[in-house]
Amino acid sequence: MDRHSGRCYRRRVDFRNAPLTVLGIEASCDDTAAALVRHVPGAAPVILSNVVAGQDALHEGFGGVVPEIAARAHAEALDLTVEKALEGRGLRVVDAVAVTAGPGLIGGVVAGVMLAKGIAAGAGLPLVGVNHLAGHALTPRLTDGLSFPYLMLLVSGGHCQFLLVRGEGDHRRLGGTIDDAPGEAFDKTARLLGLPMPGGPAVEREAARGTPRIALPRPLLGREGCDLSFSGLKTAVLRARGDLAPDGALREGDRADLCASFQAAVTEVLAEKSRRALRAAGPVTAFAVAGGVAANGAIRAALEGVAAEAGTPFAAPPPPLCTDNGAMIAWAGIEALRQGRRDDLTLAARPRWPLDEAAAPMLGSGKRGAKA
Ligand code: KG4
Ligand code: ZN
Repeated sequence: MDRHSGRCYRRRVDFRNAPLTVLGIEASCDDTAAALVRHVPGAAPVILSNVVAGQDALHEGFGGVVPEIAARAHAEALDLTVEKALEGRGLRVVDAVAVTAGPGLIGGVVAGVMLAKGIAAGAGLPLVGVNHLAGHALTPRLTDGLSFPYLMLLVSGGHCQFLLVRGEGDHRRLGGTIDDAPGEAFDKTARLLGLPMPGGPAVEREAARGTPRIALPRPLLGREGCDLSFSGLKTAVLRARGDLAPDGALREGDRADLCASFQAAVTEVLAEKSRRALRAAGPVTAFAVAGGVAANGAIRAALEGVAAEAGTPFAAPPPPLCTDNGAMIAWAGIEALRQGRRDDLTLAARPRWPLDEAAAPMLGSGKRGAKA
């Protein structure tokens, strides 16, 4: 009998010390994902499977993720995604189910939580609800074996924050965006300049051919602390585009220069704020970055440079584990179970769920859901 839920589990497992295989389910934004991760104490964790079904094609043409479409697509794709992640092994190999319980677009979060509850109840498995941001924040322990405490910068289309990760469930937010996430700014810039989605890689490709000669603002650089702002940059890009092409036809060279100038502005702001965050964090084992924007070569190199200046090791999980995925949720579930934490069938889906409950709420909640 389990003392947390009062339910009978199929078999007794010592969650703190036993080898664990956990099924992770993620459906909080626009990727339906499931994965199996196995961890034997004392050894490096192993990702047995990691399946992601994206929804880009469904949202194309709407200028962002449409919550209703996302929720329906998650509901349709979840079963199959989990089945693929199990790779014919069945649930026999699974010791627990971990699921993103927030923050995010509520329709998808609910769909994931309901499926996880169904599996847990049907197979007699323990259930653990995971904070999506904790999933990102703990990924460098899965991929690089980092020990606590480390500084984490999450930079994606939905997130932008500096977290001092001190332990499982113990995070301090040192700063974050007060409006858009950098990925949103890349996507909006791409749209303004007629480049394809996702905007980040398209802007990066253009930037490689251009010169950062156009003056653009460095938002909040003059303000103390580690908070960031990106919404003004896209307005500045719009104005610069108007100046360069009053008749509407932007020359290719100017477009490349505008992309290079935009990327340089984002890079400079992220680098300087990272410097400050490292100073504010105190002694850390590493500076880790994750999120789609961390795939940008110029940004990655600048952040690596900041870590080197500070004499701090740098860690950046491989891109498929930087972006939304089920393995990070399975791993965060394993970390929670090791700490003796788990949930029961009353687990609730939370649209907002700040990692650092003590920090003041961030402004804005972006097209990709709550930034918490
Ligand atoms: O982490 P992610 O896959 O999803 C979430 O937003 O949670 O990040 C996607 C974001 C998009 O906004 C995309 O344009 C941006 O990351 N991105 C990039 C690059 N690759 C993806 N931004 C800048 N440079 C890139 N190479
Ligand atoms: Zn994410």
